[in-house]
Amino acid sequence: MRLKSNAVITGVGGFVPDNILNNSDLEKMVDTNSEWIVSRTGIKERRILNDPSLATSDMAAYAVKDLLKNAGLEPEEIDCLIIATSTPDHLLLSTASIVCDKLGLVNAWATDINAACSGFLYAYTMGASLVESNRYKKVIVVGADQNSAIINYEDRNTCILFGDGAGAVLLEPTTEDVGLIDSVFKTEGKGREHLLVPGGGSKIPATPDSVAQKLHYIRQDGRVVFKAAIKGMTETCTEVLKRNDLEINDIKWLIPHQANYRIIHAVGENLGLPEDRVKVNIERYGNTTAATIPLCIWDFKDDFKYNDNMIFTAFGAGFSWGATLLKWGKLRTV
Ligand code: COA
Repeated sequence: MRLKSNAVITGVGGFVPDNILNNSDLEKMVDTNSEWIVSRTGIKERRILNDPSLATSDMAAYAVKDLLKNAGLEPEEIDCLIIATSTPDHLLLSTASIVCDKLGLVNAWATDINAACSGFLYAYTMGASLVESNRYKKVIVVGADQNSAIINYEDRNTCILFGDGAGAVLLEPTTEDVGLIDSVFKTEGKGREHLLVPGGGSKIPATPDSVAQKLHYIRQDGRVVFKAAIKGMTETCTEVLKRNDLEINDIKWLIPHQANYRIIHAVGENLGLPEDRVKVNIERYGNTTAATIPLCIWDFKDDFKYNDNMIFTAFGAGFSWGATLLKWGKLRTV
């Protein structure tokens, strides 16, 4: 009989492009000002992949390469690669298969999932389930998005918010009492009209008309998303705590999706968590969609100690949202 294992994060990697788009740059592009952007969103700058020869798969590959180096692993040791993205290189083929080819992950099967800003959260639980089943020993989960490819830089409602980046974690089995504990996920398809890229899929294929109507860019109803995000993240964090008999004081770190500092602050406050236990890097990267949580893990990993209880929480297009409870373990060292 195969006993169930716990799935723990044992490796971390990340990548953000060097090119910085700051608030003063945006002031020259649309009718906005830095003070408004900082006070309404907390964002000071974002990273933009401005080399036309590069795409989401390149950022994901850089993040996975960083992970392999940090963990002291060879590409052929990886069993599975899951990439959460809503900006794949191509519509018909997974970005993960391109990354396998670029890095020589010759023994891995690979696929993408799309749950927009909740993508990494969902992919992390799916990857952990593969490890828990004992079928796969080394699973890499990536969140990667090149939002600059789907942003209209004439639309001040969206262009100030988004940036590009990729983060990756390695999941491995352990018999120790650490790793993923539980996830509460929700999907409400009625919310889809408030945040989407209308064109480019099977419903509105690309045509000269769809391009002229700017249907290939992100559209969102910011106020609706804002309110739903605070409510959704607060409720799922509360539910995951309750069903595991934990109080908020048992949680050392909250790693929320980075969409707007006011959303992050409100969720922390609703949960009763002191600000110094809520991880924030939105001021440097903006909203990188599926990459925000793994980029936070990458940025702040040195703060996390063995046995720390943590919650990852996200809200995004779909609507899709949720909260995942875990205990931090130990990263591989070289
Ligand atoms: N610069 C200056 N003014 C701007 C602006 C900008 N970039 N964008 C909007 N405004 C203006 C609006 O036109 C509005 O003016 P009005 O009152 O004269 O009509 C005013 O600022 C307030 O707009 P509002 O939309 O209410 O602002 P807000 O405080 O809700 O902030 C968002 C807008 C987009 C930052 C905010 O709603 C948000 O972050 N929503 C969630 C987005 C999100 O998380 N999406 C990703 C998925 S999780």
